[in-house]
Amino acid sequence: MKVITLNPQTKQLRLEERPEPQIKGDHDVKLKILEVGICGTDREEVAGGRAFPPPGEAEIVLGHESIAEVVAVGQKVRTFKKGDLAVITVRRGCGKCAACLSDRFDLCYTGNYTERGIKGEDGFHAEYVIDEDRYLVKVPPELKHYGVLTEPMSVVEKAIDELINIQQARLADWKEKDLFKNKKALVAGLGPIGLLASFALRLQGFQLFGLDVVDTGTTRTKILQEIGGTYIDGRKIKTSEIPAKFGQIDLILEAAGVARVELDLFSALGINGAYVLTGVPSPASFSIDGGILMKNFVMKNQVALGSVNASQKHWEMAVRDLTEATKKWENALQAVITARVPYSKFMEVVDHPGKDDIKTVVGWS
Ligand code: BGC
Ligand code: ZN
Repeated sequence: MKVITLNPQTKQLRLEERPEPQIKGDHDVKLKILEVGICGTDREEVAGGRAFPPPGEAEIVLGHESIAEVVAVGQKVRTFKKGDLAVITVRRGCGKCAACLSDRFDLCYTGNYTERGIKGEDGFHAEYVIDEDRYLVKVPPELKHYGVLTEPMSVVEKAIDELINIQQARLADWKEKDLFKNKKALVAGLGPIGLLASFALRLQGFQLFGLDVVDTGTTRTKILQEIGGTYIDGRKIKTSEIPAKFGQIDLILEAAGVARVELDLFSALGINGAYVLTGVPSPASFSIDGGILMKNFVMKNQVALGSVNASQKHWEMAVRDLTEATKKWENALQAVITARVPYSKFMEVVDHPGKDDIKTVVGWS
């Protein structure tokens, strides 16, 4: 079968031939890969950033955003059958720390987790993949064309879930779900993560603002507006001016991945506000007034947290929200996938995203 590999040492990408994997364990599920999404992490890997092949190997099979069809199951698999659609989760626990022992690999303490297609395990740019049933999440047939967005959506679900849990534990007015309609959420960076967060926040009922530095009328701003969000052009409005212009911001989700922007966003956050960061910035040094930043943080009782990866529960929330989103705003969701290319074109698209690219998806069958 065909696979796409990267040698992180030489940065060489190859379309290779490998033996098709076969079911060995009773809980193994064999999947035929349908589509794999490309994200910033893949681009970072290809550019020579963090990518770690399986132990003893020089190359790693890339890809961690999947949608696949079950073609065979091991003897003890009860929850999946041939023909089911599934997504394969990314992280596998270290097996030792308190977080991993309670199935929260996303919160692993030791750092000795693995991630398929990223760290220590082959990924999903392959015709067939095998994994255990407990690492799969079922996708309903109606999500066939959007299921590939489940992985990035799971990252978003975790980030929002963590914030809401914290806020609900400390603030009375966050307890009632329908009260979110009186709450203002700001998403910074309208790439795939920021846009998927926009869908999730609108489904929860938040008033939504989206910040980016693109022209009004581009795909990103159109998607945001189609689901009821207000676009803020960061080239015209400073983050510190946002509260005066748009009111108290209760929640910020950062998906820009630019350190300077990440710090500036604190100036937009309101009283008792909560801020979650999901972008992974490159090193950057600049000067800021740290005194003002920290003073406001304290005086306004604010919360900030970083968030990476997701737990099984968040994958299930992702499937649920994507299903809801296709019912409410199918055109907008469809617009998030800006290109679908066959796997033979992977090398061309991976480091040359198109101008208005949001999410490029690679087809495997
Ligand atoms: C993936 C996450 C992963 C993270 C860090 C992201 O692109 O979506 O699942 O945990 O990279 O490797
Ligand atoms: Zn990713």
